[in-house]
Amino acid sequence: MQDLDCILHKEEIDRITSSLGNQITRDYRNKDLVLVGVLKGAFVFLSDLARKIDLPLVIDFIQVGSYGNDTVSSGMVCLKKNLDMDVCNKDVLIVEDIVDTGITTGYLLEHVFSLNPRSVDICTLIDKQINRKRDIRIAYAGSVAEDGFLVGYGLDHAEQYRHLPEIYRLPKS
Ligand code: IMP
Ligand code: MG
Repeated sequence: MQDLDCILHKEEIDRITSSLGNQITRDYRNKDLVLVGVLKGAFVFLSDLARKIDLPLVIDFIQVGSYGNDTVSSGMVCLKKNLDMDVCNKDVLIVEDIVDTGITTGYLLEHVFSLNPRSVDICTLIDKQINRKRDIRIAYAGSVAEDGFLVGYGLDHAEQYRHLPEIYRLPKS
């Protein structure tokens, strides 16, 4: 993509999803795995990751809002779409595109925890630790990113760029 600086190429993304898929396959054997994709950003990552997990599993989606169209978190989280499935006594793995401040992920952990799962953990493609405001435990992180706003492979800016096959850093405006 013109004018965008690629920070994760296809081959690297494929290596990351394979490695995470192998770890999850090892860790969730004999469990009751529910992958919960966080809409909209995680839809591309979830679809690749799920196909790298060699176990029975089910998939659900949840949607929260926090960012609006800005590149800075508003700090406010609201539930836009709840889970369809009952996750009571299931092993829930929340699949995120990126954890930035951790406010969204913290909210999701508390929300899913209130539904009485057997376990709940986080798998994120990108861990942007520099802006972290909440101390959350991330069980699986594909890649650690520096500061900067990232787009592509599901990640958007004002709903644009989600369809790009690789991950890019937006130039500072
Ligand atoms: P947090 O609550 O600050 O951790 O932000 C989590 C959500 O903000 C993610 O699920 C993304 O949808 C969005 N987000 C945070 N950083 C970026 C970015 O660099 N690019 C695109 N979306 C982002
Ligand atoms: Mg977003």
